[in-house]
Amino acid sequence: MAVEHTFSILKPDVTRRNLTGAVNALIEKSGLRIVAQKRIKMSRPQAEEFYGVHKERPFFGELVEMMTSAPVVVQVLEGENAIAKYREVMGATNPEKADEGTIRKTFALSMGENSAHGSDAPETAKQEIAQFFKPDEIVG
Ligand code: TYD
Repeated sequence: MAVEHTFSILKPDVTRRNLTGAVNALIEKSGLRIVAQKRIKMSRPQAEEFYGVHKERPFFGELVEMMTSAPVVVQVLEGENAIAKYREVMGATNPEKADEGTIRKTFALSMGENSAHGSDAPETAKQEIAQFFKPDEIVG
């Protein structure tokens, strides 16, 4: 199986509760490697671009508000089958439906404040990584 990169965000509910290390421990325990990482305050245009696919959805305004409400940690994760694997490590979008031991089951507060983002496909992973990282910031 090919080694892939996926894009991850530890959302404001994580930084606000000082849980960055706790979430990273679950990521590393899964075997995924954090090959790039930075803490940023997302601007409104950045959040609107990032979640552009959802701009007609009723939760879009609240989502942008939430993503810009406190710092986030953006990451590139590396591993075999990293895109699908990280989605398993995160668990379902709705934390009530997430499996035991996943990031969302363990830490998420709600469907909106669900602690983590992970890319859903190779093409989106590439775009999302390029929105936040220069190639030389990714050190595998
Ligand atoms: P989505 O891409 O469907 O989920 P995922 O993050 O698991 O890929 O949705 C993006 C984010 O939008 C999701 O993490 C939380 C928020 N969201 C809501 O607040 N309400 C909703 O009904 C949905 C579907 C998503």
